[in-house]
Amino acid sequence: MRDKVTIPYLMDKRARGQPITMLTCYDYPMALLQEKAGVDIILVGDSVGMTVYGYPSTLPVTMDMMVVHAQAVRRGAPGAFLIGDMPFLSYQVSVEEAIRHAGRFMQEAACDAVKLEGGRTMAPVVRAITGAGIPVMGHLGLTPQSLAMLGGFRAQGRDAAAAARVVEDGAILEGAGAFAILLEAVPPEVGREVTSRAAIPIISIGAGPGCDGQLLIVHDMLGFFEAFTPRFVKKYADLNSAILEAFQAYLDDVASGRFPAPEHCYPMKKGEWERLRQLIAAGPPTTPEEV
Ligand code: KIV
Repeated sequence: MRDKVTIPYLMDKRARGQPITMLTCYDYPMALLQEKAGVDIILVGDSVGMTVYGYPSTLPVTMDMMVVHAQAVRRGAPGAFLIGDMPFLSYQVSVEEAIRHAGRFMQEAACDAVKLEGGRTMAPVVRAITGAGIPVMGHLGLTPQSLAMLGGFRAQGRDAAAAARVVEDGAILEGAGAFAILLEAVPPEVGREVTSRAAIPIISIGAGPGCDGQLLIVHDMLGFFEAFTPRFVKKYADLNSAILEAFQAYLDDVASGRFPAPEHCYPMKKGEWERLRQLIAAGPPTTPEEV
């Protein structure tokens, strides 16, 4: 088993200029594989709402759903740095609720940190949660929980004023105590600028190569999510096709009688088939004693 990934380890990687690797994960079998591959950070993202539950956005996802998924991922990936993504309305209502919900990830799912979306307006929440001893990753740029405000899943910080706001928000979140920031769907110039000003790891999901690390959503990178593919996704596999082919082959095999074959059947113990024939030939038992 590998050594546990910690914040000092991530800081050290950053200091040595070694890119930090991060993937989302929602379940045990995928967590086992990510642990085996040696992913540094695993995010149990509220993207689970779209990739696994089929909702059109992340908004319907609840704390209870997130905790169950985080528990499953932790069982499969004991060594990864595990981040629980705080779902919509779990941290916006009050700092007290935010601390309590962040605490659930730590207490019930053995997470190492939580992530929440938003810039300067979220600074008091970041300060309060970190003040309770819970590390917080900020999330700037495209923040999917604000989909209605942003007018859709679209890149952010593309003009100078918007980019300046992202850069300022980065500094504000760091000042509020965030141990790292996730930067989503902004031009690479903005990613580089935020990163060069920060003393904490800046992780990119569509923020270019100038950040300290990279994140992809696991269903996107495995070709396992069909609804849409953001520009920043690189597909490393085509699971949709592989799984569909397997389902079709199974249907064909059952229809044609090729499945199940003898190797998929349980053999009777030696001589028991003949004994069964005799029992059947002798007819049903006639008295309770014979039963
Ligand atoms: O929920 C998630 O997976 C995320 C990514 C979109 C960054 O927050």
